[in-house]
Amino acid sequence: MKNILVLSGSPRKGGNSDILCDQFIKGADEAGNVTEKIYVREQDIGYCTACDACRNRGACVQRDDMSAILDKMVEADVIVMATPVYFYSMDAQMKTLIDRTLPRYTEIEDKDFYFIAAAAAGKAAMERTIDGFQGFTDCLPGAKVKGVVYGSGAWQKGDIRRSKAMEEAYRMGKGA
Ligand SMILES: Cc1cc2nc3c(=O)[nH]c(=O)nc-3n(C[C@H](O)[C@H](O)[C@H](O)COP(=O)(O)O)c2cc1C
Repeated sequence: MKNILVLSGSPRKGGNSDILCDQFIKGADEAGNVTEKIYVREQDIGYCTACDACRNRGACVQRDDMSAILDKMVEADVIVMATPVYFYSMDAQMKTLIDRTLPRYTEIEDKDFYFIAAAAAGKAAMERTIDGFQGFTDCLPGAKVKGVVYGSGAWQKGDIRRSKAMEEAYRMGKGA
C-alpha cells in the first residue's frame, strides 16, 4: 500500500488532465493504495519572491496553503503532477507550486513520480511541458519518473474521454 498524492494543476475542474488524474486514482485505489487529490487552483499559493529567508528558517515566510502541501509531498510515496499544456509549458498554477517547494525540496526524497499533461495538439507538442516537470524532479534527491500520460488531441473539456490516454492513466495508477 502506497500513499499517493495527486496534484491536479488545471484551472478546469473536470477538464482533460483532471479526468486523467481520476483515471489514475481509480487504478491506484483498486490496487489498494491510499490516494489524495489536491486541486491546485483552489489552494492559496503565493509566488516565490526569492527573499531567501527559507535558507535559514527552513520554511517560507508566506502563511498560505503551501506549507500543508509541502508536508504532504514530503510524506507521499508517489506524486502525480498533472497540467494542461499552455503555450508549450505547464500552467502557472503548477509552476507556482513547484517554485514554492524551495524551502523543503531536498526533503522530497526517493519518490516515484508520474506526469500527466493534456493538450489540443499531438504528443510532440507536449515534450517541453514534460521537460519542465523533469527539470523539477531532476532537482530532487532520488526521484524516479515512472510514467508519463500524454493526453494529446484534447481541446474541449471532456475530449480526452475518446483517447487511449484514459486506459493508460488507469493502468499506470494500477501499477503505481
Ligand atoms: C492559455 C492556453 C494556452 C494553450 N496552449 C496550448 C498549446 O501550446 N498547445 C496545445 O496543444 N494546446 C494548448 N491549449 C489547449 C489546452 O492545452 C487544452 O484545452 C487542454 O485540453 C486543457 O487541459 P485541461 O482540460 O486539463 O485544462 C491552450 C489553452 C489555453 C487556455
